[in-house]
Amino acid sequence: MKTSSEIRNAFLRFFQQKDHIVLPSSSLVPEGDPSLLLTNAGMVQIKPYFLGQATPPGPRLASVQKCFRTVDIETVGNERNLTFFEMLGNFSVGDYFKEGAIAFAWEFLTQQAGFDPKRLWPTIYPDDEEAFVAWQRVTGVPAERIIRLPDNWWEAGPVGPNGPDSEIYYDRGPEFGCGRPTCQPGCDCPRFLEVWNLVFMQYYRDETGALSPLPRKNIDTGMGLERLTMLLQDKRTVYETDLFAPIIQKAADIAGVRYGADESADYSLRVVADHSRAVTFLVADGVLPSNEGRGYILRRVLRRAVRHGRRLGIERTFLGETAGVVIDLMGTTYPELVQRRDFICKVIEMEESRFGQTLAVGLNLLDQFIAEARQAGRTELAGSDVFRLYDTYGFPVELTTELAREAGLRVDLEGFQQAMAEQREKARAASKFGAGARQNAEAYAQLPLEVEFLGYTRLAATSQIVGMIMGGRIVGDMAAGDEGEIVLRETPFYAEAGGQVGDTGRIANERGVAEVLDTQRPVPNLIVHRVRILEGALLAGDIVEATVDAERRASIARHHSATHLLHKALREILGTHVQQAGSLVAPDRLRFDFTHFQAVTPEELAAIEARVNEEIRANLPRGTTITTYQEALAAGAMALFGEKYGERVRMVCFGDYSCELCGGTHVERTGDIGAFVIVSEQSVGAGVRRIEALAGEPAVRFIRERLAAFDRMSSRLGGEPEVRVQALLEELQAERRTVAQLRRQLAASQAERLLNEAVQVDGITVVSARVDAPSTEALREMGDVLRDRVQRGVVVLGSVFNGRPGLVAMVTPGVGINAADLARTVAIRIGGSGGGRPDLAQAGGRHPEKLSEALAEVVPYVRAHLGR
Ligand code: ALA
Repeated sequence: MKTSSEIRNAFLRFFQQKDHIVLPSSSLVPEGDPSLLLTNAGMVQIKPYFLGQATPPGPRLASVQKCFRTVDIETVGNERNLTFFEMLGNFSVGDYFKEGAIAFAWEFLTQQAGFDPKRLWPTIYPDDEEAFVAWQRVTGVPAERIIRLPDNWWEAGPVGPNGPDSEIYYDRGPEFGCGRPTCQPGCDCPRFLEVWNLVFMQYYRDETGALSPLPRKNIDTGMGLERLTMLLQDKRTVYETDLFAPIIQKAADIAGVRYGADESADYSLRVVADHSRAVTFLVADGVLPSNEGRGYILRRVLRRAVRHGRRLGIERTFLGETAGVVIDLMGTTYPELVQRRDFICKVIEMEESRFGQTLAVGLNLLDQFIAEARQAGRTELAGSDVFRLYDTYGFPVELTTELAREAGLRVDLEGFQQAMAEQREKARAASKFGAGARQNAEAYAQLPLEVEFLGYTRLAATSQIVGMIMGGRIVGDMAAGDEGEIVLRETPFYAEAGGQVGDTGRIANERGVAEVLDTQRPVPNLIVHRVRILEGALLAGDIVEATVDAERRASIARHHSATHLLHKALREILGTHVQQAGSLVAPDRLRFDFTHFQAVTPEELAAIEARVNEEIRANLPRGTTITTYQEALAAGAMALFGEKYGERVRMVCFGDYSCELCGGTHVERTGDIGAFVIVSEQSVGAGVRRIEALAGEPAVRFIRERLAAFDRMSSRLGGEPEVRVQALLEELQAERRTVAQLRRQLAASQAERLLNEAVQVDGITVVSARVDAPSTEALREMGDVLRDRVQRGVVVLGSVFNGRPGLVAMVTPGVGINAADLARTVAIRIGGSGGGRPDLAQAGGRHPEKLSEALAEVVPYVRAHLGR
């Protein structure tokens, strides 16, 4: 048991022999757990079993879990912290408890891993006498070697299961220690290293902070694979183990440095090694760089790695390569890395080169900010500066903070947050409903929060008005001309969600009629109809008929179902790296954003469109099932990365072709979609493409309009457009050549005439003339010809184009006249101004009738200025 993969296997085999069921690692993106950004312990996938929410496959479980801890990302690079790591864990769901957990851990450490029992130090929660007794009974460790530490309590988060724990420390020997007489487990020096944490999970902490016992007493343990490997491979730090060394080596090779030669470079190499693992595993689990949530963590880590790459002197993109080493190292244990290799490296490289483009400019700017702050005697960078770096140059605020700290400055985080809030406010003010919804938040709080949606099966229903809002206040009635919001007890109107737009229609009774302009869900489960009263009045409490615009809804359903078929066809034809990144489903069109790294070719687009139409003709029936998230995934349903799904999910399938988790409204059979046509494909950001398409009647109309336009073009061109356009282009090209030739001839003969009329002033040829030229450009061309002919001379040409006079002045070398001064002087006459270089200048003005007078000034000017 020497290599890290032997250690993983030995751990799992050991617990398998003790009747544990081995679970595969779950994703770094916790499934259905909104309380957690990223999986941070082996117990995350066990939590529902501890809480009695789900039945485990057996009472004893074990795993090697991918984990990510975001605390202290900015300190990773020292020898002890990691972001991504693997946790070895065994779990008991109501089976063995303290004694059992202690016995297994002790046996594994002393007999499998071969640690000297005298070097192992158990610690306990101060008043956990049960653990104190258990340790002595099971292992024979003397009482004075069992240390009581107040920190020995572990919880999954502010809310959730928790309990006292026992951490087992390993004594690396006095040579690693601080030498203080008080040095023992819990000391912050590196001598005593925590290797294994045994948590006695027996409580639950609720939102108010109160503790209550769990249904059963459980065991949750966690041991960092990296530390254990370090000890077993007898290395000073984890970075020298087989888990990291090849990554460090790769980074060092690229940078042309050697690990161990220079502490500052070593620090950066460690950052690159840790962060390379982090970004590889995050992207493999579907996290994409963004400005919020886990996407922002990925961005932060990746950009920090790029910055440290620069510190190492690496100027090109390199993270794709170090990620490649991570995949080679870990691909056997985590096959998802191999399956998604291209995708992972592509995402990383694109984000890296995007940041690389602004990094240098941003760093310069930051230097400037730092210098300014120092000069002004400030110890802090202004929030607005930090925001500018964030917003324009993509510097995560944490990166700026780290850089500022290196320069001995703090950053004004409050000012940064404020600048951020201001920008968000601006963005929000720009979106109409959002602004209204916020204004109405207080009113919503007074309304029943559960509105039942009837619209999966019905488009009309009798209901009751339970709330009316105008101008942010609850009102009792609304009359003709009023605009506001109506809440019904239950409604067939679909509120905008999942890209599908809100329904429109009518809410009416014998007293009044309201037009529903939009339907929204400003807070979960509250459905709000935005209305305008057309006739009469409606009162709170009224019984009303709520009727959805059925035609519009049917067209929305066609576009929504078409979106599902499109999603599936994209994955079939482009590959499974395609992930939905956003969508809009409207009655007249659909828009679908997805991850893909190059333009979709016309051939691919044609194939995708054909595929969707094929499935439309297959007339697949729709199946809608309510099930659990796990079962839906097992059935092959496509779920959106980063989307939170509740306990129960709705799965929409079309035959065997497509299955998606979706809350939207759909057609009964794919044949109802009628027709599908893609109208455009474009890029909307790094690695994200957008397809716009039409379904049903809008698709047919689009095709008809295009054909009609084509027909009109054919008849105007008098033949098959492709043939005719080709002929016309050739004709045009020939004509252009002729025109250019004639222009040159004309210019030459004009030049000839002008030269004949030239005046000699002290051996200098001066041409000053009004010519026929359509632009300044043409004046210059003509001037060039003349200048070449006169050798020593001054050429000023003027013309009127678009009703305004223009001049060009040229002077050959060594004549002693400044063309710019000359142009400026004569331009005064035409009421304008001029300028340029000493050898070439131009001028414009407002008085075309004065052009000849202006040109007449040239010879006197030359005479007066020659030889000065
Ligand atoms: N869940 C425990 C920990 O993460 C084992 O330390």
